[in-house]
Amino acid sequence: MGVLRWRALLDAEISGSSSQPLSKLDPEILTALRLGTYQLRWLTRIPARAAINESVELVKRARKRSAAPFVNAVLRKLTSAVSEELRSQPFEVVGDSPQTIADRSAHPLWLVQRWVQAYGLESTRRIAGHNQSIKITAVRLRHPQAEAQLRTEGIDLIPGGLLAAARRVQGGDITNTATFRSELCVIQDEASQLVAAMLGTGAQILDCCAAPGGKTLALADHNPKSRIIAAELHSHRARLLRSLVQAHHPAGERETGNIYVVAADACHLPFVNNFDRILVDAPCSGTGTLSRNPEIKWRLTEKDLSDLHRRQLEIVRSAMAQLTAGGRLFYSTCSLEREENEDVVEQVLAENKAYRVVPCEVELKRLQLEGELTCQDLSSLTSGPYLRTLPGVHPCDGFFCAILERMELLAE
Ligand SMILES: C[S@@+](CC[C@H](N)C(=O)[O-])C[C@H]1O[C@@H](n2cnc3c(N)ncnc32)[C@H](O)[C@@H]1O
Repeated sequence: MGVLRWRALLDAEISGSSSQPLSKLDPEILTALRLGTYQLRWLTRIPARAAINESVELVKRARKRSAAPFVNAVLRKLTSAVSEELRSQPFEVVGDSPQTIADRSAHPLWLVQRWVQAYGLESTRRIAGHNQSIKITAVRLRHPQAEAQLRTEGIDLIPGGLLAAARRVQGGDITNTATFRSELCVIQDEASQLVAAMLGTGAQILDCCAAPGGKTLALADHNPKSRIIAAELHSHRARLLRSLVQAHHPAGERETGNIYVVAADACHLPFVNNFDRILVDAPCSGTGTLSRNPEIKWRLTEKDLSDLHRRQLEIVRSAMAQLTAGGRLFYSTCSLEREENEDVVEQVLAENKAYRVVPCEVELKRLQLEGELTCQDLSSLTSGPYLRTLPGVHPCDGFFCAILERMELLAE
């Protein structure tokens, strides 16, 4: 994870000590150099000679024995350049231009430039800083006893930053507890919990892009009596979702309780339009989740955003047709990019006058009144009529959510 988070900075350091350009190196050699450099530069408890030895052994194991002296030489040169003082420095994103923020925080410049334009310099510094830190583990408590039980099992918890049912893990391995194994709590980012909570209650609920199922489970917990259809395109992911749903349902109840998992393409849904609540948690770039998925920033290109925009449009158009009059569709992504968020919503609204946007503030106020939302500053959570969380600014992933309502037909 460290190498994925810091790749651009590691490459800059390696370049400074390598006699060959990085583009000429075999991928195995470059990877071994990155691993070694990361350990030398960022990990204070690994002796330099152990880090160097490990990388040299890795290239030998990758059948690149002839490159071992080169890797050894580059890492030795780097070691002399890295002082102990530098190794133990805390990381902080400084800089007052997109270029300096990108360089200092190992982000591609094009992404940082977009964020500065959309969210300003200070928020971008905070987003970039958050992405480079160890991810927060947030949990959703599903049972009144869960918190006390987790504490007796040695888990150190603090309250969530947004929701009453959320806790943040400060210490201990939650996955190793009986409380977690017996499904009394689930690991789920707070923004993801918030989107599911905003959907509220419905009689017939469709979750269009459901796997791995974090929001499906939360919807079921909020709506124990409703019929919930969870659709997922990929059959292997639908199978995983089905087993998750079975595992989380209290013993004695029907296999999957009120959740019906189907492997289906949200662009061609095999239903008739009778859902009063629909969640479209669309496939997206995931730029709001870079602290847990740092590889995204090296893979993603600007061109991908227009491809994703087209896919998202197709899914939302198809899902909108499944709403009953008066029903609401919640469109969400964990992306920070306009093309995947506002642009999708504004385009479908322009195409179809039977729908209107409901301000997310309405649902946030409801959650506040019900005591579920503990965050007081609602205006910081919204951007116009939409929900907009930013990593580092809010204590969670970057999520976007819009609510579209199908208007009742007026009598002639
Ligand atoms: C962002 S993830 C959903 C996360 C999920 N809602 C949760 O909270 O755990 C998007 C999911 O949509 C699925 N997907 C992508 N295209 C789809 C389509 N056309 N129809 C249905 N599901 C699709 C992906 O396989 C992926 O599992």
